[in-house]
Amino acid sequence: MEISSSNLIQEEGDKEKGTSRDHKENGKLRVEKPRINDVPQIHRLINYFADRGEMLPRSLSELYENIRECFVVRQSERVIACVLLHIFWSDLAEIKSLAVADDNQKQGIGTQLVKACLSESEQLGIGTVFCLTYRPGFFEKINFSQIDKMNLPRKVWTDCYRCPKFPNCDEVALIRYLDI
Ligand SMILES: CC(C)(COP(=O)(O)OP(=O)(O)OC[C@H]1O[C@@H](n2cnc3c(N)ncnc32)[C@H](O)[C@@H]1OP(=O)(O)O)[C@@H](O)C(=O)NCCC(=O)NCCS
Repeated sequence: MEISSSNLIQEEGDKEKGTSRDHKENGKLRVEKPRINDVPQIHRLINYFADRGEMLPRSLSELYENIRECFVVRQSERVIACVLLHIFWSDLAEIKSLAVADDNQKQGIGTQLVKACLSESEQLGIGTVFCLTYRPGFFEKINFSQIDKMNLPRKVWTDCYRCPKFPNCDEVALIRYLDI
């Protein structure tokens, strides 16, 4: 299955942002489901930013097990961006491990990946999507709102207990409610 930009949720005001982003979304760079042999590249991309303290690391086994949660953007055979959408419960999903390669940032790719996650969540009938991030400003531009981490459902904390940073989590929680 491939998700093209035409399937993505259109935000209010996107059309006002000018033609350059529209051109990119309609051009070569598309959000796609990964192939299994993309996993080593996804792993390198995520852990490149994890080594810089910008996101949490992921193991190869975790990525192989959860490959169906993932979307990627490819340039030829190179994976230049990725994200995971993890389903927690009947009404709750999390956007995780969003990463865009340094030289491909600020071209709307991160936004496209988040929109692919929102679109899939909407198609599944899951009305609430959250993330934990060091980049709250980026998510606020896509209409996520900050919330107190302690207000996240208890289910989320089962994951947090396994995090090396727990309980001193310095990530910011943001949430977006979808019209479903
Ligand atoms: C954060 C990240 C995913 C953004 O990806 P991107 O492809 O560069 O983002 P986009 O081009 O879609 O940016 C969309 C908008 O958000 C803004 N933005 C990007 N990063 C931002 C940040 N850290 N804070 C505030 N705004 C930000 C952009 O300027 C752009 O604004 P505009 O629409 O007014 O031009 C990317 O910088 C990245 O991979 N960083 C390293 C890993 C990371 O921090 N991941 C965060 C999630 S855990």
